Amino acid sequence: MNENMMEYETVELDDEDGSIVIIDQTLLPGRTERIRLKTAQEIWDAIYLLKVRGAPAIGITAAFGIYLLAKGIETEDYGAFHKEFTRQKDYLDSSRPTAVNLSWALERMNQICLKNQDKRVAEIKEALKEEALAIKTEDTWVCRMIGEYGLSLVKPGDGILTHCNAGQLATSKYGTATAPVYLGQERGYHFRVFADETRPLLQGARLTAYELSSAGVDVTLICDNMSAMVMKNGWVNAVFVGCDRVAANGDTANKIGTSLVAVAAKRYNIPFYVCAPTSTIDRNIETGSRIHIEERPAEEVTEMWYKERMAPEGIKVYNPAFDVTDHDLITAVVTEYGIARPPFEASFQEIFKRKEEKGLEKRKEYGLG
Ligand code: MRU
Repeated sequence: MNENMMEYETVELDDEDGSIVIIDQTLLPGRTERIRLKTAQEIWDAIYLLKVRGAPAIGITAAFGIYLLAKGIETEDYGAFHKEFTRQKDYLDSSRPTAVNLSWALERMNQICLKNQDKRVAEIKEALKEEALAIKTEDTWVCRMIGEYGLSLVKPGDGILTHCNAGQLATSKYGTATAPVYLGQERGYHFRVFADETRPLLQGARLTAYELSSAGVDVTLICDNMSAMVMKNGWVNAVFVGCDRVAANGDTANKIGTSLVAVAAKRYNIPFYVCAPTSTIDRNIETGSRIHIEERPAEEVTEMWYKERMAPEGIKVYNPAFDVTDHDLITAVVTEYGIARPPFEASFQEIFKRKEEKGLEKRKEYGLG
């Protein structure tokens, strides 16, 4: 463990080169390799293949991506520009369906075109760049705030369990579910973290265990089927997980296996916290039953991480990438504007009101006028 992942940028824009620079997460923990994405196809593939993954990081990549693609549109006519912009935006949006941050970031970029349609195309391109950079900068602030609120829910020495990777590698910095851990680390809280390995793509083993241990956090890797055992042993004081889309009633889509962890936490009376940037809360959908759950190829289950195939040829495989945790299993949703508690509809309303009031202030803070 020789590199501290906290020192790496998960997603960067190299405007001069016309590329997005990401750490190829499919190679971790064996190799830390940066790759450059330039074309729409490269960006789409990197998101689909999970070279860059985690809801906020996908959103940031999409924002940088659509800016670079827009920059390449050669016309002075707004109508023609926006037609091509929309085509590219819809293409990027089709790369993964569950994380709302993807369409949220792309729509935010679209709004910049619409708001500035009286301006020259060159000026619109400049405004798109500023917005994409703001999405990334804001994410760092959002994660830090989630960390502060999350930290208020635990105490020094606590055992924390997490599932999948909602860490720095899934965001611009700190992560969401790991933000309380990193902030606690800065303040000498000495948490003991349990990282579920997270079948089938092993984001917990390959990414969370790696980034936390490389930052000096006390982390223990467990298989997914061990979380009830460590809870029963009394080793877990709180569960923190990330999310890909939260419905208005609090139902939460996150990496497959999350809802099982929530069920076990309820059984053992352990608070279950969802760490959610407000950009991941989709108030357009009332309940989790309306969340589109991505299904992925069978080989991820049968052979991808094994030396040889571990299931009979031709076996039927069901491989949903996410599940929905029912809102009544969730103790609280930790956002950058505070902690929402059941009933979530009302609590989210309060949170979004606070966001509206503070939003303007925040844009000024980032020098965005
Ligand atoms: O399929 P992945 O690896 O993109 O799934 C990631 C998760 O489920 C994360 O928990 C979620 O995106 C939150 S990341 C802050």
